[in-house]
Amino acid sequence: MIEKLVRKNILNLIPYTSARDSFLEGILLDANENSLGSVIVDEHNLQLNRYPDPAQNKLREKLADYLNVSTKNLFFGVGSDEIIDLLIRIFCEPKKDSVLIPEPTYGMYKVACDVNDVKTISVPLNKNFQVDVKTTLIAVEKNTKIIFLCSPNNPTANLLSKKNVIQIIENFKGIVVIDEAYIDFNESQSFISELKNHRNLVITRTFSKAWGLAGIRCGFSIADEFITNLLFKIKAPYNLNKLTANAILEALSKVKRKNNFVKILNSEKDKLISELKSIKQIQKVFQSDANFILFKIKNATEVYKKLAAEGVIIRNRSNQLNLENCLRVSIGTPKENKEFLTKLKEIL
Ligand SMILES: Cc1ncc(COP(=O)(O)O)c(C=O)c1O
Repeated sequence: MIEKLVRKNILNLIPYTSARDSFLEGILLDANENSLGSVIVDEHNLQLNRYPDPAQNKLREKLADYLNVSTKNLFFGVGSDEIIDLLIRIFCEPKKDSVLIPEPTYGMYKVACDVNDVKTISVPLNKNFQVDVKTTLIAVEKNTKIIFLCSPNNPTANLLSKKNVIQIIENFKGIVVIDEAYIDFNESQSFISELKNHRNLVITRTFSKAWGLAGIRCGFSIADEFITNLLFKIKAPYNLNKLTANAILEALSKVKRKNNFVKILNSEKDKLISELKSIKQIQKVFQSDANFILFKIKNATEVYKKLAAEGVIIRNRSNQLNLENCLRVSIGTPKENKEFLTKLKEIL
């Protein structure tokens, strides 16, 4: 019964009714906009003087076609980061409920919980960076409402085992969020097909990675209609702006380009992995199903700083749980990857 998991105040909430809920066309004198136009040139004739569609209908239709799911299961956010925050606010009572986070993983789950004054329970991933079903389920407390799982996981870059994740979904009475920000790099491993079997599953994805649109801030969730409606209920009325929405509509008609990016980045990744493996100071290069590589190297912090001084910026993950001396590098252009390797070899 996912209905029982929702905070009472959210269930009872009377949402803001925005002017554009009922009418998107006509003589629009209902939203205190500027009917004369906008001060900048509205290049794509988007009517930037008008508020966007709060129901995100066009976007949802186009994405539903791409994903082969119902529009009723789709919600767009200002990055998937917004959706992470909204989910916590729907299900977790501040100071009372908790969220379980297998670590090391993406840092925003904990930050979003901290902002909302919601307790987090950290459970270690096992030595292969997989969720351990037993340890995870034992750590669940009476008021644990959400488990965040990230597949492929950031910063370890591996996909989570389907079998383990499904066992967690089936044995946890709360909501399981699977963050698929990097799934485009191995899309066949998505959990989307599991949605029909599990009402407590929420999948989040983003246009920030494979689609190359980090700058426009857009992510989306695929979830049961009840949860999707709650996201619509509590979001800011016009969360998704027209410039972003327009770019997403265009992006969804350019799936081939996205797939081509994925092909190039995956092949660059394979090359980079084998190059890194040939460097003797590198103790381990972890397998990757994402657009970045995690590797373990002696004196990681020093290496990180020296690279930065040379103008090559990667991420030091040494302070995360069980990631001592680990660095994470994003796959760049072929030229950037070469320069990274050259500088790294020079430093060592
Ligand atoms: C696992 C994971 N989820 C979500 C995000 C954020 O995505 P967005 O840009 O859609 O907010 C990131 C960004 O690095 C990420 O690594």
